[in-house]
Amino acid sequence: MDINKLIDYAIIASKNAYVPYSNFKVGAALITKNGKIYTGCNIENASYGLSNCAERTCLFSSYADGVTKQDIAMFCVYSPLNHIVSPCGACRQVMSELLPSDCKIIIAYGDNHQYVETTMKELLPLTFTSEDLNND
Ligand code: THU
Repeated sequence: MDINKLIDYAIIASKNAYVPYSNFKVGAALITKNGKIYTGCNIENASYGLSNCAERTCLFSSYADGVTKQDIAMFCVYSPLNHIVSPCGACRQVMSELLPSDCKIIIAYGDNHQYVETTMKELLPLTFTSEDLNND
C-alpha cells in the first residue's frame, strides 16, 4: 500500500481520539503484509497517567485480533499540527516489542500529508528487549 493511503487511515482514526484534557488528537494505523488495516487513537483519562497513546491503541487492537510481529508491514502515526510529533518513550518501547525490527515507520503530520520515514533502530537505539532477559 501507498504511504499516503496509510496516512489517510491514521488521519481518520485521529478523529475518534478521546482527548478532553489535552485536546490533542493523534491517530495511528498499521497495515499487515496481507493488506489488513488496524487503527488507533489516543484515549485519555481524568487520572492523566492512564491515558493511552494512539500508537499503543493501534498495536494492542491489532494484536487482540490475532496479528503478530511478522505480519506487520508498515506503521504510521499522525498528529495534526504542522510539525513532527514523534512517539513518546513508552510507545517506543512498546513499538520495539510489537513491530518487526525492519518495519517501515511513518511519522505524519499537518494537513498536507507531510511525513518522515524512520526505523525502530533510529527511534530507540540500544533497546531493552527479551534478549536481555537471557542469562548467557
Ligand atoms: N500522544 C499520542 O497519542 N501519541 C504521541 O506520539 C504523542 C502523544 C497523546 C497522549 C496524550 O493523549 C496527548 O497526545 C498529549 O500528550
